[in-house]
Order: sequence, then C-alpha cells, then structure tokens
Amino acid sequence: MTTPLENLTPKQIVAELDKYIIGQFDAKRNVAIALRNRWRRMNSDEAMRREIVPNNILMIGATGVGKTEIARRLAMIANAPFVKVEASKFTEVGYVGRDVESMVRDLVEQAVNMVKIAKKETVRARATEVVEDIIMDILIPPMQDKGAGLLVANQNGSNPDHTDETPTQDHILNEKTRSQFRVKLRAGELDSRKIDIDVQQSQAPNVGVMGGAIDDLSMMNIQEMIGGMMPKKAKKRRVTVAEARKYLLEEETTKLIDMDEVKEEAIRKAEDVGIIFIDEIDKIANAGGKGGGPDVSREGVQRDLLPIVEGSTVNTKYGSIKTDHILFVAAGAFHVSKPSDLIPELQGRFPIRVELQSLTESDFYHILKEPKNALTRQYEALLAAEGVELTFEDASLSELAKIAFEINASVENIGARRLQTVMSTLLNEFMFDIPDKILPNSKIVVTQGLVQEKLLSLVKNRDLSQYIL
Ligand SMILES: Nc1ncnc2c1ncn2[C@@H]1O[C@H](COP(=O)(O)OP(=O)(O)O)[C@@H](O)[C@H]1O
Ligand SMILES: [Mg+2]
Repeated sequence: MTTPLENLTPKQIVAELDKYIIGQFDAKRNVAIALRNRWRRMNSDEAMRREIVPNNILMIGATGVGKTEIARRLAMIANAPFVKVEASKFTEVGYVGRDVESMVRDLVEQAVNMVKIAKKETVRARATEVVEDIIMDILIPPMQDKGAGLLVANQNGSNPDHTDETPTQDHILNEKTRSQFRVKLRAGELDSRKIDIDVQQSQAPNVGVMGGAIDDLSMMNIQEMIGGMMPKKAKKRRVTVAEARKYLLEEETTKLIDMDEVKEEAIRKAEDVGIIFIDEIDKIANAGGKGGGPDVSREGVQRDLLPIVEGSTVNTKYGSIKTDHILFVAAGAFHVSKPSDLIPELQGRFPIRVELQSLTESDFYHILKEPKNALTRQYEALLAAEGVELTFEDASLSELAKIAFEINASVENIGARRLQTVMSTLLNEFMFDIPDKILPNSKIVVTQGLVQEKLLSLVKNRDLSQYIL
C-alpha cells in the first residue's frame, strides 16, 4: 500500500476495501470510521488522547461472507500489526487463564517484525557495501597492511627504500585485481562461485520444564536466557557467492539496526495502531444464560478477555504494552447465541455492531471476477507461470456462481469459501496435465459448457457433492 494511512479518509478506506471485498458496505463503512478515528485521536490534544477509547467493532455474519477478509485488509491498509485468534480456543481443555494475553504478545511480535523490516530497509544500502567488502576480502584477500612490518624496519633504518607511501608492485597488482573483481561481483558474474564464510550457530537447546504448568512468557524467557548463555559457535560453510550475499546481508543489517529502538517503536506501534481480530466470539457467549458445564468456562474466557479489551498492561519479552488503544474487532455468526448473551461488560466494549449480509448468487459472480485477488486471477497467474493462457468466459462465471450457490443451499452454507472448492474441482485436471499433456503456449478457455460438463453431475448427486464440492 503506497498511500500512507494519514491521507486516507473514510471514503478512501472504503474504496481501498472495495478492491478486495464485494458488498458488505455497512461493515466497510464502520471499520473505515474506526480506522480514521485512530488518526483523529493521534492528532487530538495530548490530554484528550488518553481518554479517547477505540470504537471496537462486533461483526455479525455467517461464515465465509468476508468478516476476516475485511479486518485483514484493513490492517494492510493501515500498515498495522494484526493478529487473529479464535475465542473458542480458550475454552479448550488445558487452557490456563493467562493464555488470553498471548494474543497481545503475538501482536507485539508482529509489530517487532514490521519495525525490523522497515529499519532494515533504511540500513540496506550500508549493509550491502559492508557485505561486498566482506565477500571481496574472501575472494581476493587484500595484502597485509603495508605499514605494519615495514615501519619497524624503517625505524631500524635497515630498510630505507620501502616506506608506506610507496606500495610494492604486489600491492598495486593486488589492488588492481580486486577492483576488477569488484566490478564482476557487482555485475553478478561471480554469483555461482563457491566461497567459505563463517556462519553463527546458536546453540540454544530445546528446553522443556518438567513437573507442571508454566505459561508462555516464562517459557520464552527461559529459552532466551539459556540461548543467551550458550556461546555462539562460528562454523565455516562453503556456499555460493549469491548465497553468501543473502546470508551476510541478513547478518549485517541485523547488526546495523538498534534492537532497543526497534522494541520501543514496536511497542508503540502495537499500542497505537494494532488490530486484534477475535473470531468466533459467539462460541464463548452463553446461549440461554444457564450456568453449569462448559458455560462456566465460556464465561470465564469472557472475564479473562475483559481486562485486555478494557485496557490493561501486558508483559512481553519486548517490554510491557498497554492495551487501551488497540482496536479489537470481534466476529461471530451468532446463529445459536446472541450478542446480548455476552456478559454486559464485554458487550459494552464492542459498541459498534455491524451485520454482514449473506452473499447472493450475483455476489458470487462478482467475487469470482472483480477483486484484485479474485480466484480467477489467481488461477490465471498460476498457469501463466507455465506459459499457459487461461481465460474465463463471462457465462462460465455465472454458471460457477450458480453452482456454488446451489451447493451452499443444498449441502452447507460456507459462503464464498464454496467458490474455492468449486473452482479447484473445475480446474483440477488441467492443473495435473500441465505441462506434460497440455504444453506451454496453449490456451484454455473456460466456457459455460465446460463448467457444466465438469461439475453438473457432481451437483446433481448430493452424496458426491458433499464430499467433493
Ligand atoms: N464479500 C466478499 N468479497 C470478496 N471475497 C469474499 C467475500 N466474502 C468472502 N470472501 C472470500 O471468501 C473467503 C472466506 O472469507 P472470510 O472473510 O475468511 O470469511 P469469514 O466471514 O468466515 O471470516 C476468503 O477467501 C475471502 O476472500
Ligand atoms: Mg473468519
């Protein structure tokens, strides 16, 4: 995404989402407002900035209608760290209360990666130079410093002809060869040549702790501690110049960036623009409100979630993070339970409710055709890599949409996900036959007839479609 977030108005954010998601205007509108509100908050005066709480969003809609996709794309637009968790996983057997905080730790981890990548980009040019020097020195080592040995000789007066201002023939030759090789190196002409480089091997063993419960954070700290105590061992490895460049570049950029700065910036980024997507929140709601059995654990999870969503401090290995301004987007189908089955405190933390519409046959047609990442484009790209040109006639898309819609109605409604199974069944044989039976430079045109031929028999047979489509 090239446009920075601060320039995107709600309308522009929606336009950006429109490139990937068909319909769901209400949801797009509200996430756009939430995103813009963060910018508004950051630009409000200091005292108020602390008071303004994010407008967390509850998305209500059947499976496969775009809930996750909207949140994910929103994070990409905002260049924001993003994590997705399933609320239901916290109700599983063996769950320990504190684990709920792991979603915040994961968010920080994400932020650290993002900041690291950005910082690495800024030192890349410098690191590239350093790496070039290292590789040069391995290929054609420079001659020993002309000064050192000779200086002693000079002082003794026994070798007055050689001073460090007059390099020997060897030195001149060495320098000349080096600069010739440097040109070749830059041009990539030496890429397949083998050289020996030092690689650092961290000796961190996998440590298990016996005899009981230990949460993620302590475990991570123990791992880190032991990893840090073990000496790093350098090992010589023989690799090509190209591989060496890749490895050394990673190592040198890491050396050039200031990790403390990265940590600090990452924490701030996660705090101010992080987005946590809590899926299947309906699964932790108490349908009917009766206590007992698994319901207790569901409500327990809600209570554990509450402080995080309300704003609290979570310790991570990069420092502690305040969750007050993280944007939480929760989603669920709410077929059995209702949002009002959530504990009131949690309901209050998700003030914005948006309902996503079930997708129609016509939506399916547009989803196949229009998004930047549309399935048809994905398959076209896959086959283009083989030199095969794949095209879809418009009528074939209508037919695919119709079939997907019918199977959703007759077997199980999995929303737009159905398009994936239908499409892969349609193209399966082609995918196998290329490039052996169907040669590069061929063209495949998907017509309505072809779709019917490949899929109609499956659609008619309910048993078959249950397993295959
Ligand atoms: N409205 C939509 N427009 C475009 N693609 C969609 C839409 N809804 C779902 N999809 C596609 O269907 C798949 C599942 O969508 P997802 O957002 O994960 O569903 P859910 O609502 O269950 O979270 C994704 O590949 C997504 O791109
Ligand atoms: Mg989802």
